[in-house]
Amino acid sequence: MAIMGFGELIGMLKKNPKKIVFTEGTDGRILEAASRLLASNFLSPILVGDEEAIFAASEECGYNIRGAEILDPKKFDRMDEMAEMFCELRKGKGVTIDKAKETLLQGNYFGTMLVKMGMADALLGGATYSTADTVRPALQLIKTKPGNSIVSSVFILVRSRATGDSEVLAMADCAINIRPTEDELVEIAIEASECAKIFGVDPKVGFLSYSTFGSGAGEDVDRMRNAAEKTRLKAPDLAVEGELQFDAAVSPRVARTKCPESEIAGHINTFIFPDISAGNIGYKIAQRLGGFEAYGPILLGLNAPVNDLSRGCNAAEVYSMAIITAALA
Ligand SMILES: CC(C)(COP(=O)(O)OP(=O)(O)OC[C@H]1O[C@@H](n2cnc3c(N)ncnc32)[C@H](O)[C@@H]1OP(=O)(O)O)[C@@H](O)C(=O)NCCC(=O)NCCS
Repeated sequence: MAIMGFGELIGMLKKNPKKIVFTEGTDGRILEAASRLLASNFLSPILVGDEEAIFAASEECGYNIRGAEILDPKKFDRMDEMAEMFCELRKGKGVTIDKAKETLLQGNYFGTMLVKMGMADALLGGATYSTADTVRPALQLIKTKPGNSIVSSVFILVRSRATGDSEVLAMADCAINIRPTEDELVEIAIEASECAKIFGVDPKVGFLSYSTFGSGAGEDVDRMRNAAEKTRLKAPDLAVEGELQFDAAVSPRVARTKCPESEIAGHINTFIFPDISAGNIGYKIAQRLGGFEAYGPILLGLNAPVNDLSRGCNAAEVYSMAIITAALA
């Protein structure tokens, strides 16, 4: 895998090995990734599900998962404690102990509580669960970290250059917040930039729009321009520009014509989209037509690392995302 900094992420885990919970223990892609992790010494998988069904699935796919920790919600010996903690975390939401136990039979809620109880450092789900069903338990139980008002997400996009090194970009928020406000965009930009740095990006942040420096007008143009301005005030050391069209963001030639006064237009590597439609379509264009590998969505602003897989993922992506997720722990 060509991702810049990936070797360093493994290096970090080797120094400080972690445990990651997979909420879909019988999925063939999860089992393949888990067998690779078991052969390494830096990240231990915990598989959620029925032990017999997991071993039957692993035999059928031909992956050796001997040594994996398997936790079945139906036989979990700390279920009473887990259900009590669940009720405490959902206080005021009308959750009874019986309702908590019923909810915790679902792998996504059970796995999230394993992280909350400190039995795992991180969680990766979404091979079969939808994004909403993977993310919702984390929003409700792991919650937003102090100082943040929202959970958002970033995709890291990686493409090899002819020179042999990699081009690495960050795009946010392509997966969680439907239409962020100005202040939410500021938070998304700062969190995405911090995450981009972990992958070796020196962030140059562009707030994207259909307008460059007032060439177009409208509420969404103002929202992106104001968000850029507010980000500059909140993070004065961060290189920020906006509002920008995508061509002015990435092409030095177009930037010289449309916004010659900008020092970073034409060289943007951290893209902030106005809403989830633009972001989700945008990263997929880069991935499908631009030849970038896409890693994410990496969730930002949570108290513990939980990440979501695409349901169309393969085992190599599960393995990479597991390492990325655990390294962020
Ligand atoms: C993230 C998402 C799943 C939350 O939806 P939801 O569960 O219906 O949201 P709700 O409004 O019912 O909120 C559930 C809880 O999460 C919290 N929450 C919702 N969005 C949040 C956010 N962005 N940050 C932090 N907390 C959030 C709510 O406050 C609520 O907490 P509470 O139950 O303790 O009061 C929703 O925003 C979504 O579907 N986003 C798009 C996902 C998607 O389809 N992505 C594209 C594919 S990658």
